Amino acid sequence: MNSSKSPLIIALDFAQPERAMALAKQLGCKRCRIKIGKELFTRSGPALVENLVSLGFEVFLDLKFHDIPNTVARACLAAADLGVWMINVHALGGRNMLLAAREALDKRQLRPLLVAVTILTSFERFDLYAVGLHGLLDENVLRLACLSHNCGLDGVVCSAHEIVQIRRAVGSHFKLVTPGLRPAGFSKDDQKRVMTPAEALKLGANYLVIGRPVTAAPEPLLALSEIEASIRDS
Ligand code: C5P
Repeated sequence: MNSSKSPLIIALDFAQPERAMALAKQLGCKRCRIKIGKELFTRSGPALVENLVSLGFEVFLDLKFHDIPNTVARACLAAADLGVWMINVHALGGRNMLLAAREALDKRQLRPLLVAVTILTSFERFDLYAVGLHGLLDENVLRLACLSHNCGLDGVVCSAHEIVQIRRAVGSHFKLVTPGLRPAGFSKDDQKRVMTPAEALKLGANYLVIGRPVTAAPEPLLALSEIEASIRDS
């Protein structure tokens, strides 16, 4: 499967860059995209990202920026300079921050996709209350997705449970990136709002972020093949 067609983004959540690089090479840049998050980036820095980009990988740099507009805009430009395929910010950073991020990237001829995290898939309703967000979880997600859409972002990160209502509100061009996926029979780990990759795709997700079901599997390539088969057969 060519990565431009595969919806799979494998989260390389490792502490050691050597392990991340080894798995990335095993997976291959034609088969899937890869995601680099806070742990690996904090340990290994931009060099690893640039290395993976130079090997042909389309990299989702998942640093979830959330700060004042000027800082986030400049951080987005720094991320774009690494040649990554997708970056993200927190929609809870608000309208001015989202606009600043998008306007900064618009100055670049070749820019990464910019998506916003709505509500983390590790959150449940009680977690929302605890940070002062009232209303139902999916109401909050929808509000933040619409805000991101109005600010001209390319898409949002959401749980697969919220795909249908977001799609209805924002149309077919907005990218929906869904983590919190678990093939049937896998542990939920710390994720709360989970679904299988095949179900998420059927509901209209554009990209599927998958970490531990592949990275913690005894045979990651076999785990990936099984997920690919489940998507093909669905
Ligand atoms: O191992 P697992 O499949 O749960 O990994 C999910 C990945 O997606 C992690 O790298 C996590 O940081 C990321 N993520 C998430 N929820 C979001 C956004 C990103 O789980 N809302």
